[in-house]
Amino acid sequence: MEYTNPKMGRNELCWCGSGKKYKKCHMPLDLKIDEYEEQGYEVPERAIIKTPEEIAGIKESAKINIAALDAVAEKIHPGMATIEIDDLVYDVVTKAGAIPADLNYEGYPKSVCTSVNNEVCHGIPSEDVILKDGDIVNVDMSTIYKGYYSDSSRMFMIGDVSEENQKLVRVAKECVDLGVKAVKPWKTLGDMGDVVHRHAVENGCSVVWEFGGHGCGCEFHEDPFVSYVSKPGEEMLMVPGMCFTIEPMINLGRPEIKVDEKNGWTVYTRDGSMSAQWEVQALVTEDGCEVLAY
Ligand code: MF3
Ligand code: CO
Repeated sequence: MEYTNPKMGRNELCWCGSGKKYKKCHMPLDLKIDEYEEQGYEVPERAIIKTPEEIAGIKESAKINIAALDAVAEKIHPGMATIEIDDLVYDVVTKAGAIPADLNYEGYPKSVCTSVNNEVCHGIPSEDVILKDGDIVNVDMSTIYKGYYSDSSRMFMIGDVSEENQKLVRVAKECVDLGVKAVKPWKTLGDMGDVVHRHAVENGCSVVWEFGGHGCGCEFHEDPFVSYVSKPGEEMLMVPGMCFTIEPMINLGRPEIKVDEKNGWTVYTRDGSMSAQWEVQALVTEDGCEVLAY
């Protein structure tokens, strides 16, 4: 409502900080968003459309996130305690002058989430959790650098993993890759989420619906919520400059989950089946999508 009609003069300098006149910069985009809103689409607030300066900052943050996950990829091995992953991530991130976004986030005690096997997300690194041959583990981390947030996660297969679990990890990755391909301006998040959902189901897997992706960049978790059990044409319109994560949680069995009663964080599949998740941070561009963090 207010947003796309920012009450900015055509000849004023654009709100995005480009130094260009509004009419030569974001005005056409704002007007186009107005048209979609009139047609009944859910449209983004301007605050979540990233300016060029914000995008540059998020990319710097993302480089650190990627470097830390690369370091994990190099070091992860059977016999490693998940607390060692936490130490490694903390080291890489802080040495780069950044802060692990997870640490102390709503009381979360560690710098990274390490979710093993039937853990869906928010597994807490521990000296007591030793990775063993055949495990599949998600390492999910986020970085704050100069106030900008990045967020991504990857799966790691430890030693010899069963074919069934290899397939789960592969399908979860394919879901994200297909999701990225479905990110296009003037389509909706539901168009993207539906592609992800269908791929999971076609491969005999299910998608967790309680957790999803989120806007990310100037805050850790911004609007919109990004569901992967959404329908084509539904949910928020994707607009150039929007930045959000694609991070479907894919279960081999049923989609239901339960939260650890003792630590209040760790999420498990209710049926005990295996779960996998990859996460990228995506930027909607003029003609598609740029992956900023992976
Ligand atoms: N990194 C997670 C996400 O993808 C959030 C983890 S919050 C924490 O959104 F507190 F558990 F670390
Ligand atoms: Co995320």
